[in-house]
Amino acid sequence: MPIHSSPSSWILETRKAAYALGLNPAGLLTHRYWGARLPYVEDYPSPFNPVHWASTDGPHHFVPEEYPGYAGTKYVDPTLKVTFADAVRDVVLEFQDFTVTGSPQPELALRLTDSVYPLQVTLHYRLHEELDLIERWVTLENLSDQPILVERAFSAKWTLPQGDDYSLTHMYGRHIDEFRMKRESLTPGLKIVESRRLIPSHRAAPWFAVDRNASEESGEVWFGTLAWSGNFKITAEVTEFASTRVSIGVNDWDFAWKLMPGEPLVTPSALSGYTQNGFGAASRLFHDYVRDVVIPHGKVPHKVLYNSWEATFFNVDEASQSKLAEIAAQMGVELFVMDDGWFHKRNRDNAGLGDWFPDAVKFPNGLGSLIQKVNDLGMQFGLWVEPEMVNPDSDLYRAHPDWVIHFPTRARTESRNQLILNLARVDVQDFIIATLDTLLSENNIAFIKWDMNRGVSEPGWQDAPGDPRELWVRYVQGLYRVWGTLRERHPNVIWQSCASGGGRPDFGILRFADQVWISDNTEATARLHIQEGYSQFLPANTMEAWVTDWGRDLVPLEFRFHVSMCGTLGVGGNLLQWDQAERKLAADRIRLYKEIREVIQFGDQYRLISAQKNEYSAVQYVSKDKSESVLFVFRTYIRDPFNLPMIYLRGLEAEARYTVEGMEGARSGKAWMEVGLKVPLLNLHSKVLRIQRVRTS
Ligand code: DGJ
Repeated sequence: MPIHSSPSSWILETRKAAYALGLNPAGLLTHRYWGARLPYVEDYPSPFNPVHWASTDGPHHFVPEEYPGYAGTKYVDPTLKVTFADAVRDVVLEFQDFTVTGSPQPELALRLTDSVYPLQVTLHYRLHEELDLIERWVTLENLSDQPILVERAFSAKWTLPQGDDYSLTHMYGRHIDEFRMKRESLTPGLKIVESRRLIPSHRAAPWFAVDRNASEESGEVWFGTLAWSGNFKITAEVTEFASTRVSIGVNDWDFAWKLMPGEPLVTPSALSGYTQNGFGAASRLFHDYVRDVVIPHGKVPHKVLYNSWEATFFNVDEASQSKLAEIAAQMGVELFVMDDGWFHKRNRDNAGLGDWFPDAVKFPNGLGSLIQKVNDLGMQFGLWVEPEMVNPDSDLYRAHPDWVIHFPTRARTESRNQLILNLARVDVQDFIIATLDTLLSENNIAFIKWDMNRGVSEPGWQDAPGDPRELWVRYVQGLYRVWGTLRERHPNVIWQSCASGGGRPDFGILRFADQVWISDNTEATARLHIQEGYSQFLPANTMEAWVTDWGRDLVPLEFRFHVSMCGTLGVGGNLLQWDQAERKLAADRIRLYKEIREVIQFGDQYRLISAQKNEYSAVQYVSKDKSESVLFVFRTYIRDPFNLPMIYLRGLEAEARYTVEGMEGARSGKAWMEVGLKVPLLNLHSKVLRIQRVRTS
């Protein structure tokens, strides 16, 4: 059993890492260790004792408590903040008991209660032993008959080994410029990374990595994420006594939850891991977890799709889509997706959202005849929807103006001419379930792109049964209920999560969606940066990437294909304008992609030379059995003369011999990794090289 427990000590061991906690002599549940797995149980340090420094601090300030409530002389960033019915705002948690269960995964649950008030807090730990990750979440229960107001309930806090010499890596960005990495020294004080927009947003991602001089392939990295598709908060605190701690959870900004008796509040899961092999290994652990545990169809290779958005925008009709479909099919596309513009009165972005039935002018015969055409061409059919939204100019809004998120006395701020339906409301959830269920039942739809194109404003909820500020959480729970129900009813449909590109990429949404549309920026050189950031925590098979006409005058089609082939390949250009040579090249790249896609989608990814830091970059994928690998190399723009960097391959079997396409001879995996190779490229050129293990028999 990877959980070693005694009445006051718990050690959680995964394949290579360990996490230990226990009761200190004062009875406080404290952190003990997070790092490499140690040989013996006795190796793990004892819980930290309170010390005295000065009357200005108080002993508890020093204890790295596992789940500190806001109380007494604890001035560190708390994980829990509540106000009891009598206005007391101080929570004192005492350990009660624990349970360890073994199946399907080992789990530890530690039960704490307040010393005076009937508040119960259970800390849960689930071990994903082989995947080397620990999942944590918290359940709050009110055992009295009076409500308790919860003002913060994070999912986890982690304490790092004593020291204040850490760096934090996190993501920032904006629309069409997502997943930029920032690595900065953590210094005394509090650093916050958060979202306040109802979705994780383009501005940040619910992911962090903390390291001490780590690089891509070596060094210690402690990393984590929150499986949550709403507002999140990451706090990284360095105390004045060189203690570094990181917390993650639902953002407490504008949040409150009226905890009622008999209705537990369960926080979203936080996933975390530790590695001594750098940022690359941290990413690969998360990639495996997402493919093995999170996404619904983790073992099914994704099809090459065509999406008509950038070709036709809102001007969709049966004729225009059919023409595109014919060319797409000739090129080898397997799934044809019609984007925005197909539904009732949707000619621009100012009308139609909410009325999810085909526009009678554009599709007088419904969608059936187009779908049949697409199927006859040998492709599956997919469709775009934006179910959380409504245009004021829609039948739905005219019938239910009270269904949107709003404050009664304030103007309803429109963004892209749309308002957000309040998915916290069960009637709204039921409406969306019924509408999409009909759409999917009546049409042969294999794929849905689920979009969400604005941030929240006036976050009011008039008739909320609890505190209206529960909206931030209940909206996301409502979204999960809707999506979960539809997934159950239509289990074979592949869903894609889009929020104006990469506004909602997280382990929460990926329980329903198999893919993310990671950016509206489809310009290939920019995309290299965006894709690299995304790959920090999400695998290539979840990353939909289209070849479009953006940058067509400058960037060769082959380069654009190679960039998109680093994820799930799609095409999104206006095929009517592609000449024969372009279509031929496209067909050739699609054929190649089909041969190598399993290595890319399911293999181990190695970022050999960073695209965010260099104009010459390389990324490699290695199949799990190490028999095959694919190397992509890109050069954007560099002044000549340019001294080519060596590319050192990774992940190969050291003793086995491999051939690298275009290179002479078979060499050992070790040689390719240690000696390296050079791949000469001109500006704006790229190469994809297949690497194959030589069979010995
Ligand atoms: C935003 C998405 O990111 C685009 O790909 C496209 O689907 C548009 N919405 C359609 O309105």
